[in-house]
Amino acid sequence: MENIKSYVTNNKERFIHELIELLKIPSISADSAYSQDVLNTADAVKDALEKAGCTAVEICETPGYPIVYGEKIINPKLPTVLVYGHYDVQPADPINLWTSPPFEPVIKVTDKHPEGAIFARGACDDKGQMYMHVKALEYMTVNNELPCNVKFMIEGEEEIGSSSLAWFVERNQEKLANDVILISDTGMISNSQPSITTGLRGLSYVEVEVTGPNRDLHSGLYGGAVANPINILTKMIASLHDENNHITIPGFYDKVEELSLEERAEMAKAPFSLENYKDALDIEDVYGEQGYTTNERNSIRPTLDVNGIWGGYTGEGAKTVIASKAYAKISMRLVPNQDWKEITELFKNHFESIAPKAVKVKVTPHHGGQGYVTPIDNIGYQAANKAYTETFGIPAIPQRSGGSIPIVALFEKELKSKTILMGFGLDSDAIHSPNEHFGVFNYLKGIETIPLFYKYFAELHS
Ligand code: BES
Ligand code: MN
Ligand code: MN
Repeated sequence: MENIKSYVTNNKERFIHELIELLKIPSISADSAYSQDVLNTADAVKDALEKAGCTAVEICETPGYPIVYGEKIINPKLPTVLVYGHYDVQPADPINLWTSPPFEPVIKVTDKHPEGAIFARGACDDKGQMYMHVKALEYMTVNNELPCNVKFMIEGEEEIGSSSLAWFVERNQEKLANDVILISDTGMISNSQPSITTGLRGLSYVEVEVTGPNRDLHSGLYGGAVANPINILTKMIASLHDENNHITIPGFYDKVEELSLEERAEMAKAPFSLENYKDALDIEDVYGEQGYTTNERNSIRPTLDVNGIWGGYTGEGAKTVIASKAYAKISMRLVPNQDWKEITELFKNHFESIAPKAVKVKVTPHHGGQGYVTPIDNIGYQAANKAYTETFGIPAIPQRSGGSIPIVALFEKELKSKTILMGFGLDSDAIHSPNEHFGVFNYLKGIETIPLFYKYFAELHS
């Protein structure tokens, strides 16, 4: 029998090669031009699960993209781990900012990854992190070391809101019954300081449309006399934050949980350098809600950001025109206790109320989800921490993340179990951006750490 460390060393090249093959398929769920690729990726994940030792692997049809389900039940009396991940990826644009094509993975060395990182869309979010679990299962199968039951549920719509997964989970509570949910789709502090994500923010995503005159107008003949939808929209957006960068929507903060000074002091112990943070982003200063640190602003505080804005003439040269319409996409990151549907409603009412009579406003909600916090006094967290301590040589630090995986709150509601977020990515891995990558060190460390989670979880459970 081979231990996990030497198994990873001996199979390193193959593990990397297999992930690279998976990354070559452009499974962009947001763009229907890639729908066949998304489906092909589901098939590839099914094959991989079968090869790793899952039995009863199925492609489960849904109203949208399918869910790949597989399990390995060794004894119904033993606890069950449910692994969740996603095989879809974000669109790759802007393509011209990639230093190598997004679906032709290559390994390159970076400052943060002296051992090399795999560059490709989805490398870190989430194909690379999902595949660590497949390879960890392979190890446990080959060496007969799986200490409990495992179920895999890999979806293809995470990046577009997981609506089919919600549909699936509501209909399959029994099939998905488990003692803990394990996800690697977040990050950690650094390669020398592991952390376990204990919180995710909620999300409300909306699109707004401002309509002025019924057609585009000559900006000389009409300018100054009718409302310009772009002027109005930008003014309305600017008014959503006050001079302290607080959000001005009435009721927005009503349910926000205020952390105690002790909790905030505990959070501030996590290693963080504001200078490095600014350097990495090439900014002179940070910017955000007054009264909170950078780490608080991007984890325990809610935010509102414009994700896209358009309207009027943006082509070459100049065109003197007042556009009939202007648009924006706006996301609000929410913290636990804020209800995303309620916040969406508050936004809609407020945005409509601040519009001058000279324009019409339409607010269209896209998708959203609740935030999540995991307590650290449960055996899932303890098992994860023991696993990290063994592979990294130091304990993990609990850390709330600013990102969102809206389905996690639904898992707790429908399946009544806690989720452990064992992420191995770094914030600098450029997920959703050009040149996304995933460290080879991180990939292999993940494969090494996961079987230890199973070992300690099964031990602590009995
Ligand atoms: N894996 C990310 C979320 C994430 C990344 C959480 C890093 C914590 C740390 C996930 O794929 C994602 O991008 N989620 C979206 C929300 C979704 C509804 C589109 C997000 O956070 O924008
Ligand atoms: Mn993800
Ligand atoms: Mn993502």
